Amino acid sequence: MTVIRTELGDITAKHYADAIVNAANESLLGGGGVDGAIHRAAGPELLAECRMLNGCKTGQAKITKAYRLPCNYVIYTVGPVWHGGTHSEAELLTSCYRHSLELAMEYGIRSVAFPSISTGVYSYPVQQAAEIAVQTVRAVVEEHPEAFDEILWVLFDERTKLVYAGELQKC
Ligand code: APR
Repeated sequence: MTVIRTELGDITAKHYADAIVNAANESLLGGGGVDGAIHRAAGPELLAECRMLNGCKTGQAKITKAYRLPCNYVIYTVGPVWHGGTHSEAELLTSCYRHSLELAMEYGIRSVAFPSISTGVYSYPVQQAAEIAVQTVRAVVEEHPEAFDEILWVLFDERTKLVYAGELQKC
């Protein structure tokens, strides 16, 4: 049985899961938001390893070690920038969650913590992002019921947490 839940917090502040997911940009060379927090907490070796990855396309996922972070892996995914919903944003965000979890399964990772991908700098409406996030995670767990012990979202503000928790409560 895979536990799927939400928590309010800073995804770098304590051990939440074997892997944490970074809402990165296509360069994989750091940025603001959760990307900046993850690089600050992990230390310079993270960037050094990221430099060898040659970037990441929107909707795709890549992985590195976690260095000084309280977890074993960082999975990078690049969410879509919101342009009103007519530029395949929903499909790309779905792909972020699916590819992140597929990569986790490839590495035998059994617990994964996500931030709210694309809802900060990339301006994706939180409600719509949460719907996609929850339905995609549920679909992957249904397809691979033995793969994960726990998948959670670590949400940085109360409002975002309420939206994701609300989506999880829907059947
Ligand atoms: N822990 C958990 N969540 C966090 C943290 C943190 N330490 N810091 C920020 N967040 C939250 C934001 O509040 C938001 O809800 O992560 C969510 C995603 O916001 P962003 O980090 O801005 O990511 P995104 O909207 O996907 O934009 C990605 O921003 O930082 C740059 O390099 C990044 O260019 C990329 C873009």
